Amino acid sequence: MPQKKILIVDADEASRNFIARKIQDLGFDILHAASGREGLIAAWRDHPDMVVADPSVSDLRGEEFAAKLRHDPRTQNLPLVALSSDHNPARIKSCREAGFNEYIAKSGQAVRMLGDVIARLFGVTDEAMKRGGLMIVFLSAKGGTGVSSLCANIGVEISKHNPEARVVVADLVFPIGSIAPIVGYEGTENIATLAGHVSNGSGSDFLSRLPKMETWRFHLLAGSPDPELSNQLNAEGSWDIVSRLKNAYDFVLVDIGRSLSRIVLPLISHADLLTLIVSADVSAISLTGTLLEYLKGKDVSQEAIYTILNRHAGLEGLSKRETETALGIKINAAIPYLDVNFAFANSQNRPYTLKFPNDTASIILQDAAREISALARKTRDG
Ligand SMILES: Nc1ncnc2c1ncn2[C@@H]1O[C@H](COP(=O)(O)OP(=O)(O)O)[C@@H](O)[C@H]1O
Ligand SMILES: [Mg+2]
Repeated sequence: MPQKKILIVDADEASRNFIARKIQDLGFDILHAASGREGLIAAWRDHPDMVVADPSVSDLRGEEFAAKLRHDPRTQNLPLVALSSDHNPARIKSCREAGFNEYIAKSGQAVRMLGDVIARLFGVTDEAMKRGGLMIVFLSAKGGTGVSSLCANIGVEISKHNPEARVVVADLVFPIGSIAPIVGYEGTENIATLAGHVSNGSGSDFLSRLPKMETWRFHLLAGSPDPELSNQLNAEGSWDIVSRLKNAYDFVLVDIGRSLSRIVLPLISHADLLTLIVSADVSAISLTGTLLEYLKGKDVSQEAIYTILNRHAGLEGLSKRETETALGIKINAAIPYLDVNFAFANSQNRPYTLKFPNDTASIILQDAAREISALARKTRDG
């Protein structure tokens, strides 16, 4: 694939060269323009993938420059970033209104912020989601079905089964995550603090420092510890975080619980595999049916869904066959009711297979992990 090209529009040659070097270091090709007019010509003629422009170039006001790009079909959606020494809020507002996607005020942080903006603007593409690690999203139609427990417990088995692979588990359940208490993480870094780092430009450093849960053999991006912090996140933010995780890990397991919020929708439609946890009680079956219909409407193919029937409650419920018939799908794995054992392993922060290695459920978890990694790889390869 050809490298992405970024056009830099800045009348000051030294400043242009400085930015160019920094962007080249990130792995992009550079086009230069020394004036607004040159910038327009290059934008229309050379098809850059993004423009970084100083809105104070003297021959063409930044606002006018942006408006001209936005009015031309060739560049109407081209990502456009202002990099400016003008810190005036009114100017920032007028540039954004004229069509700049982002406005970075020059400071010691500017280069880092520019890197983050580029990652974000380029990250939000289907293409980016097809690169990097395999993304496996764990979900259910109803709370308390065992999604978080299974996400963590299958995560550890995927890691054991693929010893060379880097595995990360990300808890994107809002408003409160629950993987951290299962795996015993007591640190303070989590998805909400990460959102803060991303907005001040230090998101990349943060992601490289994610804690490794040694017993669980994966890195953890812990969930939000409280509802207030969850409010800092938006859909673009979660997409950004996941595409960065995909750059750094071979397997990205995401717990979204039963939430189908706007924040996680892009993740569902771009997952390599969905692992759907189904419970056997009648009310859950009907909710799961609704969820399956919804996924079909989002063009999620049946082959990209791995279903686990989890008997999380000590009720009889439907059999595997009955569940398959009721939902019109195949159940890939069935986990029996484990009484207090599962909660016991969780409360000791131990993987189930470590706590109860000879239990049938341990074998089922190992098989499921093997099938899930194989299936995710298969759907990625098409
Ligand atoms: N197969 C099972 N047998 C017994 N208890 C289970 C089983 N699966 C999950 N649980 C228990 O159910 C509870 C809810 O699990 P959790 O993973 O938090 O669900 P969710 O993330 O879907 O809300 C936990 O106490 C867990 O230990
Ligand atoms: Mg959960």
